[in-house]
Amino acid sequence: MNRVSTGVEGLDKMLHGGLIPGRPYVISGPPGSGKSILGVHFLLEGIKNGESVIMVAVDEPPNEIKTNMAHFGWGLDRLRILDATPDIRTYTKGKSIIDVGTTLDVQDMEQVGEMRKSQQLRIMEVSIHSVQKMLKQEFQDHFKVSGKRYTRVVIDSLTSLKMFGMRAEDRRILIQSFLRFLSELEATTLIITELPRPDELKTEFLLARGDIRFQKWFESNAVRRAVSIEKFRGSAFDERFRPMVIGSRGLFVQADGEVALHGRRSDGVVGHFFRDIMSEEAFEILEEITTLWEECEAIDANIKDLKPRIFRAMIYLHMGRHDDVVQQSVSLLAALRERKEKATMSSLIER
Ligand SMILES: Nc1ncnc2c1ncn2[C@@H]1O[C@H](COP(=O)(O)OP(=O)(O)OP(=O)(O)O)[C@@H](O)[C@H]1O
Ligand SMILES: [Mg+2]
Repeated sequence: MNRVSTGVEGLDKMLHGGLIPGRPYVISGPPGSGKSILGVHFLLEGIKNGESVIMVAVDEPPNEIKTNMAHFGWGLDRLRILDATPDIRTYTKGKSIIDVGTTLDVQDMEQVGEMRKSQQLRIMEVSIHSVQKMLKQEFQDHFKVSGKRYTRVVIDSLTSLKMFGMRAEDRRILIQSFLRFLSELEATTLIITELPRPDELKTEFLLARGDIRFQKWFESNAVRRAVSIEKFRGSAFDERFRPMVIGSRGLFVQADGEVALHGRRSDGVVGHFFRDIMSEEAFEILEEITTLWEECEAIDANIKDLKPRIFRAMIYLHMGRHDDVVQQSVSLLAALRERKEKATMSSLIER
């Protein structure tokens, strides 16, 4: 089968040759994990093969992307970037940058009246809708001028398009139609997005044909990185976590490398890696709460009202929402410490 290279050799190996062309894929990971760098690798690979490629910049203005990536010594002059950052005045226009801000699209809002349900949807609609329009226009213009179709598209990122609070139901419909639109373009598309929470089933992850996920953590004060493929429809793939580094030439994936985690299971069961780290943190903090709770009870500190917060933490734990457990527990720990201190103080005063 015909495959599309990601521009990163080790990752292509993990994908058993590369991506299946003409489909949308999700690239997810925490901030600074290398998502945008992969996007540029992917597009440069296309340019190298004489393909037409395009990036839609939502997170950072095009000139910043180019400056950030300049460290890798890549010639980005030929990389076409559509500027979809909310404020188009934040950058000085360069040669290959097309001036298309989301703000230009406000008059089109009236045309989609039927679907509109709330004020939030209105904003969101304009945002995804305008990116969609931009892309469609760009595809047509490019075809007119060059007789070629774009074969690679990167959207960096979808998260920024979705930042307006809106009902899950509305969001799902919009993203669904956006992904359908991307499939119809018949270009291989990378949609960059933030890491989903373990309990969340986000539409883009369900509908994308594949999900490449970056992980980043600290070990002995150094940043460690890994990449995994969570899903790849229509193909076999490497199900393990593989080590990754960001070096002077961009991403390097060690396709035959093992990810070792503090002597923990090193075969990294797909999807559980991040959860393992989080749940360990959650368990540790709950243990600390229990100890502190006992200490508070022993000195008759007033902590009754804090009980519901423990229950809440337990519910989150049960749901696998480990980051919520941690967040809830950190504030609970602080409260417990304060109560303990107060009780100790007043017993000292009484004496
Ligand atoms: N020359 C370099 N050598 C080593 N590491 C680098 C170099 N340049 C950038 N990095 C690393 O790459 C990271 C940025 O990668 P990238 O911009 O792709 O992240 P991202 O996943 O897109 O993040 P965000 O979600 O914030 O957009 C930086 O945090 C830095 O650690
Ligand atoms: Mg980025």
